[in-house]
Amino acid sequence: MAEPIRTERGHPREIVRYSANERTNHWLIAISFVLAALSGLALYHPAMSWLYALFGGGPWTRVLHPFIGVFMFLVFFLFAFRMLGSNRIDARDRQWLRQIDDVAAGREEKLPEVGRYNAGQKVLFWGLVLCMLGLLATGIVMWQPWFAPAFTVTVIRFASVVHAILATVIICMIIFHAYSAFWVKGSMGAMVRGRVSRGWAWKHHRGWLRDIDREAGRK
Ligand code: HEM
Repeated sequence: MAEPIRTERGHPREIVRYSANERTNHWLIAISFVLAALSGLALYHPAMSWLYALFGGGPWTRVLHPFIGVFMFLVFFLFAFRMLGSNRIDARDRQWLRQIDDVAAGREEKLPEVGRYNAGQKVLFWGLVLCMLGLLATGIVMWQPWFAPAFTVTVIRFASVVHAILATVIICMIIFHAYSAFWVKGSMGAMVRGRVSRGWAWKHHRGWLRDIDREAGRK
């Protein structure tokens, strides 16, 4: 294997942020999310029923949507368990959130040092976990003909309202997530190639870079 390009101090210029498995897992979540959202929107309102064509018509959309949803839930939790340890919210994260105006203005030098993820990413992570759990629970209550017969009409109606609200919230969160991924230059490289530059890590996740150097015995 070729030697990595190194900085003047002998550090490798690029750092691994996601393994091939993690990236495959993430993109499976993203693809199933888009399919779940499109099939869900088709079922949600007649104005969006033209989307049925993507799934082989109305009846097929109704059959496929819950299965896509369960698949998305499973791949999401596979990934979320791997990322759990890096998403614990601590005192530095609370300070970061209090300085959200500095975040928005890009005054990163004023913010507390960030670990593998910043507080915004962590809040989004926990929001996604809650939405996914809620979507699964309410989806099961509505799932015809398997589980819905076990519930009263009132419970099913309530579940469908909550399901629609959670779906709206998670779609907004993912639009924000994808926007941030493009906005913070270098982030997409992390999820596409698996590697980031030292400069990117130093600028956005300095605590994480220090941990990596410490583990590798570098200063
Ligand atoms: C649709 C387009 C999407 C794009 C462009 C995208 C992009 C990215 C990028 C670039 C990262 C790496 C950020 C970093 O390491 O700092 C990331 C991480 C992540 N993404 Fe996505 N993503 C998308 C969809 C999704 C979906 C649908 C989900 C879940 C429902 C998701 C969940 C996550 C999670 C949990 C992380 C790790 C962040 C953490 O653990 O706090 N992504 N994404």
